[in-house]
Amino acid sequence: MPNWLKDAVFYEIYPQSFYDTNGDGIGDFNGIIEKLDYIKSLGCNALWINPCFDSLFHDAGYDVRDYKKVAPRYGTNSDLYRLFGEAHRKGIHVLLDLVPGHTSEEHPWFLESQKAEKNEYSNRYIWTNAAFQPAKGFLYIGGETERDGVYVLNFFKCQPALNYGFLNPEEDWQLSMDHPDCIATREAMKDVMRFWLDHGCDGFRVDMAASLVKNDDEKKSGTSAVWKNVREMLDAEYPEAAMISEWNEPEMAINQGGFHMDFYLNWSGNGYSSLLRDYERGEDHSFFKKDGSGDIRRFLDEYLPRYEATRENGYYCLITCNHDTKRPKYNLDDSELKIAYAFLFTMPGVPFLYYGDEIGMRYLELKTKEGGYGRTGSRTPMQWTDGKNAGFSTCPADALYLPVDTADGAPSVAAQEVDGNSLLSTVKDLLRLRHEEEDLQADGDFEVVYAESGKLPFVYRRGSLLLALNPSTERVSAPVGEADAGKKVLYAIGTGEVKEQEIILAPQSFVVLK
Ligand code: NOJ
Repeated sequence: MPNWLKDAVFYEIYPQSFYDTNGDGIGDFNGIIEKLDYIKSLGCNALWINPCFDSLFHDAGYDVRDYKKVAPRYGTNSDLYRLFGEAHRKGIHVLLDLVPGHTSEEHPWFLESQKAEKNEYSNRYIWTNAAFQPAKGFLYIGGETERDGVYVLNFFKCQPALNYGFLNPEEDWQLSMDHPDCIATREAMKDVMRFWLDHGCDGFRVDMAASLVKNDDEKKSGTSAVWKNVREMLDAEYPEAAMISEWNEPEMAINQGGFHMDFYLNWSGNGYSSLLRDYERGEDHSFFKKDGSGDIRRFLDEYLPRYEATRENGYYCLITCNHDTKRPKYNLDDSELKIAYAFLFTMPGVPFLYYGDEIGMRYLELKTKEGGYGRTGSRTPMQWTDGKNAGFSTCPADALYLPVDTADGAPSVAAQEVDGNSLLSTVKDLLRLRHEEEDLQADGDFEVVYAESGKLPFVYRRGSLLLALNPSTERVSAPVGEADAGKKVLYAIGTGEVKEQEIILAPQSFVVLK
């Protein structure tokens, strides 16, 4: 396990929209380099950059055409190597986005695979034996290739599935996982990983990590076996490299597959969604809404068994948002967000902050861009200043990758940096506290002290620290142990105190007691 993860806090960058230094309306690597000090000032010491490789951008770069070459819109490979170096000098680790499940339909492997003559890449993707033989049970495309067969998709139409084999082949076109051509796919992906690790990257966020082996069983034992094999390679050759899976099944991803971290994702109605995104199911009872109608048990009952089952082997990670979800500002105001972030940044595992969430950037209703659809509104340019294009780019406004938020009072870094009470200042305070107190970091023990269905506050322990939060506008209290009576306030949003054997919290408060 890479030791640096213990105190890591990640910042996710959607590179198109972070900072444009050459005035073409789209972000670039030099822009990320220029803003490293800003990222550091937040208290983030690690980055995850969304795919920045050569692509047709039919899915914002998740349709990779060349795994080893960056997209010219962001700069050159040398610029990215320089970014690794500059980041490391500032104590920041950098994860790239690995897309192992599919490529672009214009990847040279696919262009070879679709040829009528058999060649080295014929089995790199999944094909049936004839154009009129459907790939039953899968998304597939027929009638577009020289080869007489249909091919299986992994996501959008532009993303044919790479062939890691089938756990239980059921038809003769389905190869087994140990077929040499399926092993070759896995080795090709390791080769891509080695390429970037050798150039200074620190690991990968892995896209659709659960999708590799087809006809897998419920426990995903086929796909896990592939990842376990990749982990063995990392342990032997790059023991400091880290992998985080887009999977949201930590027992599979971490315990079986060997991922160091797995994301707790916003699946509709699940525990994580009940915290910030409950509106997806109709009435919004998100726990962090100030009407206090949420229920922390919806989160805990799902989270706790998963956390307990995996904590010895890796980290189940909480996010503010990502490039696929609506920003938390969509339904929460800044006072609600402060309490929500206080929770997210004081939980076990490694927290992930999505660019712009630190200032409460809004979700915008926008026409789709690069396959974003409903996700597009969370991918708008970072709002640095109150000036032209929010300080993101010097280009004409109509040349921007996506429009900037021009609403009255749209938040900006510049305005919030000089306001000690801003969301940005709260984020910095919280992350500073996390770095100062080892108990608050990834490995610190976590224990629930008071969490009653439909009641507040929520009280929990991290190591020797006692934490409590109250998202509502009512004053609330809960019993605590005798040993907690003498604890002093180390940090607070609002006010909270322990009196006799009771913890009392003012409206919308969060407190850490030592
Ligand atoms: C998950 C990524 O986060 C998403 O943005 C992408 O569209 C799909 N995987 C397909 O790669």
